Amino acid sequence: MKNNKKKILIIGGAGFIGHHLCLRFKDLDYSIKVIDSLSVNNYLSITEKNPKEYPHPKLSKLITTERFNLFKEKDIFINKLDSRDYEDINREILEYDPNIIIHLAAVSHANKSNVDPFNSFDHSLRTLENVLDSSKKLKNLERFIYFSSSMVYGNFDSDFVDENSKCDPIGIYGTLKYCCEKIIKAYSDVFGVQYTIIRPSALYGERCISRRVGQIFIENALNGKDIVINADDNEKLDFTYINDLIHGIIQVIDNKNSVNQTFNITFGEGRNISTLVDILRDFFSDLKVKKKDRDKLMPKRGKLLCDKAKNLINYTPSWNLEKGYSNYIKWYVDFFKRNKENFK
Ligand SMILES: NC(=O)c1ccc[n+]([C@@H]2O[C@H](COP(=O)([O-])OP(=O)(O)OC[C@H]3O[C@@H](n4cnc5c(N)ncnc54)[C@H](O)[C@@H]3O)[C@@H](O)[C@H]2O)c1
Repeated sequence: MKNNKKKILIIGGAGFIGHHLCLRFKDLDYSIKVIDSLSVNNYLSITEKNPKEYPHPKLSKLITTERFNLFKEKDIFINKLDSRDYEDINREILEYDPNIIIHLAAVSHANKSNVDPFNSFDHSLRTLENVLDSSKKLKNLERFIYFSSSMVYGNFDSDFVDENSKCDPIGIYGTLKYCCEKIIKAYSDVFGVQYTIIRPSALYGERCISRRVGQIFIENALNGKDIVINADDNEKLDFTYINDLIHGIIQVIDNKNSVNQTFNITFGEGRNISTLVDILRDFFSDLKVKKKDRDKLMPKRGKLLCDKAKNLINYTPSWNLEKGYSNYIKWYVDFFKRNKENFK
């Protein structure tokens, strides 16, 4: 069977990573099925009643609508289903009989997980448990791909980590991710489900509504608000543009070497958070920057070495922060111009 004839099921496929992935799969002529409840950090959960999470709810809704429009252009259909429901998800999985399952459904943000652990357990752990349980019944399943996080490492011991570094997560999100990794490995040991675990870090890119630092900075700049850096001066993150992550996932799917492996998939460079501001200044000359104390539940991170992915699956990230963040800013400035009246 040729690779691009594989059937791929993407759970959480209308989210930030998921929709980019589906659009790319479609370009590569893969056969895909998308499942998403649209109810967690997506169209149906965006509300004016939660200004902390969505300070510009109309804009966030429009961004998700842009995802749907792109899906429509490429004939991608969303099966609206809550994967916490075992009967529903089990039926869909067995009927579709996929070769590859990509599990993205979760509460995808560390801050949100710490505020609402119950929901995080429900959407992250319950959904995973349901999907794994159905997976073990599939005869044609070649791979279960799971999205973990750099948060599993906790505070980095040095400037960088690789996949063999000690995992000592802090906070609900990282702990849940590490727990999910262990559960997947247990399913592999007991039932032979072949897996690949991906650990991304500090993702950014077009049509994200998760309000990570790169997005907040652009929105504040567009809105004439101060840029607030909640980090120590020497604090670094491995910022990764969505295009590099998508390339990494395609390499995982195309390479048998990725079976039962865990990979850091990042750009592979620790960069100061203030570098985002430097890049923003090329687009907004009069930025005002403030400093605040860092959140103690955010682990101190840095660079994630990607040598394993480079060597085993020929992963070649090509979007450094200057190139990737500039691209993202240009997209957002254009989106803002087209939708200015909704930026409230
Ligand atoms: N974006 C990042 O920086 C990043 C970094 C590391 C890891 N991850 C992980 O990657 C995965 C995807 O992240 P994302 O940024 O695309 O998140 P996202 O919030 O944009 O997308 C998650 C999608 O899952 C769906 N979903 C949640 N619970 C569901 C349920 N019960 N049934 C059906 N659908 C459900 C949501 O509606 C949403 O569309 C998550 O597991 C996240 O923790 C993301």
